[in-house]
Amino acid sequence: MTGEPLIGDVVGELLRDTFAVATGVGPRPLVGGRLPRPVIEIIERDDGLINGAPSAHYLDGPADWQPYDHRAVDRVRGETLDVGTGAGRIALLLQERGVPVTGLDTSAGALAVSRRRGVRRLVHGTVDTHVADGHRYDTFLLLGNNLGLFEGRERAPEFLAALAALARPGAQIIAHGTDPYGTRDPLHTGYHERNRRRGRLGGQLRLRLRYRELGTEWFDYLVCSAEEFAALVRGSAWRLTDVDDRDAPYYLATLRLAG
Ligand SMILES: C[S@@+](CC[C@H](N)C(=O)[O-])C[C@H]1O[C@@H](n2cnc3c(N)ncnc32)[C@H](O)[C@@H]1O
Repeated sequence: MTGEPLIGDVVGELLRDTFAVATGVGPRPLVGGRLPRPVIEIIERDDGLINGAPSAHYLDGPADWQPYDHRAVDRVRGETLDVGTGAGRIALLLQERGVPVTGLDTSAGALAVSRRRGVRRLVHGTVDTHVADGHRYDTFLLLGNNLGLFEGRERAPEFLAALAALARPGAQIIAHGTDPYGTRDPLHTGYHERNRRRGRLGGQLRLRLRYRELGTEWFDYLVCSAEEFAALVRGSAWRLTDVDDRDAPYYLATLRLAG
């Protein structure tokens, strides 16, 4: 034993147990074999910071959503790809509204939970692998802070190019981000500074997720200001047409396919 986690489908296991706790369907994590144990997502940052967050919100219905989630889904039009659909909370509402929506996720377990909850169209993979499937979309959603999937300066151009390859003329991307720079906590401001010294964006987090004995590989997840995001988009096939920061530090960035 090394104390290192087994690499596995952390998100899938976490969502399966979250679903089991919420519905009673399937074995639930129990304390001492008897009492329900809350499901917590453990997020490790590469400076040693560890955070735990209850995972129940991944299953939340619209009544429990934040206002920016409602504003995001109200902007949806046409064939829609929910990128990183998780437990499918956004896709489910869009389906109810009659929007043709597909949930995309790298986690097979997340897709199984989404399917069980009633999401009909699901794809296992990334935006890059999905290009070859031939489906094309009018709207791309990156909600639940999934602007993070832009990762940083290296990945952003590839990610935008893959979305452009999946796009119909006039397509839009709606991405939920968080501006991390309002903090005065030296743990975070020091991390941002160290990142910049290494040529990274301040909020380019290096993370891994843990659940029970499982862990993910280390990956980059981008938490950036709207100005930094605008710079990443410049020179791509997309134009940043709107930043809705009514719920700052959270914001919704809307991009449109140029031309
Ligand atoms: C923070 S959760 C957000 C879930 C959902 N959008 C929501 O708002 O509840 C991130 C989701 O993105 C998925 N994911 C991570 N990397 C991905 C990638 N490169 N492509 C597609 N999905 C990814 C994860 O498996 C997870 O389900």
